[in-house]
Amino acid sequence: MRKTAAKKSVRRTGSPDSKSERVALVTGGARKLGASICRHLAGRGYRVVINYRTSRVQAESLARSIRGKGGEALPFRADVTRERDVKRMIDRVKRSFGRLDVLINNVGDYLEKPLARVSTEEWEEILRSNLTSVFLCTKTALPLMRKRPAGRILVVGYAPAGKLAASPRCAVYHLAKTGALILTKSLAVEEAPHGITVNMISPGTIFNSVKKPSDTASDYIPAGRFCRYADLLGMMDYLLSEEAGYVTGGHFVVSGGYAI
Ligand SMILES: NC(=O)c1ccc[n+]([C@@H]2O[C@H](COP(=O)([O-])OP(=O)(O)OC[C@H]3O[C@@H](n4cnc5c(N)ncnc54)[C@H](OP(=O)(O)O)[C@@H]3O)[C@@H](O)[C@H]2O)c1
Repeated sequence: MRKTAAKKSVRRTGSPDSKSERVALVTGGARKLGASICRHLAGRGYRVVINYRTSRVQAESLARSIRGKGGEALPFRADVTRERDVKRMIDRVKRSFGRLDVLINNVGDYLEKPLARVSTEEWEEILRSNLTSVFLCTKTALPLMRKRPAGRILVVGYAPAGKLAASPRCAVYHLAKTGALILTKSLAVEEAPHGITVNMISPGTIFNSVKKPSDTASDYIPAGRFCRYADLLGMMDYLLSEEAGYVTGGHFVVSGGYAI
């Protein structure tokens, strides 16, 4: 992002601890679920850092739309699987805002393929996208987040992540998300003394997913419909709230009864 636009985005309002001062970083925030989270948090008064990797145009347009509604947004390019990029991003958050209250680890590429056809590159990419990215972003953000009294970290998982079960055609993604769940729980214990909660929120199949077990939700989703962003945002609101300060290390499945 160009300097002038960045400066514009860090205008401050409210008292030091008012909600309008809170800063949230959403990885993969330019499109789809990530963009919906950014819009939602901005509407709730958070200053939002929109991380993107390639979708610059969408990230900047989202930031403009948030600013148009009186909010604050900072689009920032970083590949969250690369430590150097993640460090640059958190440094920028520190310089621009001096604080970070909420980290949403939303990035997580999908792969559907039998293991016999998965290349080593694909194996590594899926692990890096779903697991290493959570480790890198969280580890790098923690020193800044620990300065706040009530940090909130969310990891976007997927409904079957808590199951120790075979996952034909989806094993790499499944084990990366299960790994991210173990990471979530371990971080929850380690960060509780710092007032930071860490939880996983797991969608079933989202309505706009390109890969679905079936195009007819009622074939396999007990609730009879695909997951909407609103289903996830409501759960997110609770986990980010003050009331949820004692709720940590949880796996919150939002799937209409699918894969529970
Ligand atoms: N869709 C579903 O049905 C479903 C179901 C269960 C769980 N989930 C989980 O929900 C989350 C969001 O999924 P989604 O389907 O909304 O979006 P998505 O298609 O998985 O991707 C969202 C964004 O992630 C960004 N991204 C990918 N790799 C990145 C990297 N290394 N660094 C920075 N950004 C990166 C991309 O940014 P750029 O465009 O800028 O490259 C993309 O716009 C994921 O964790 C996914 O595993 C999705």
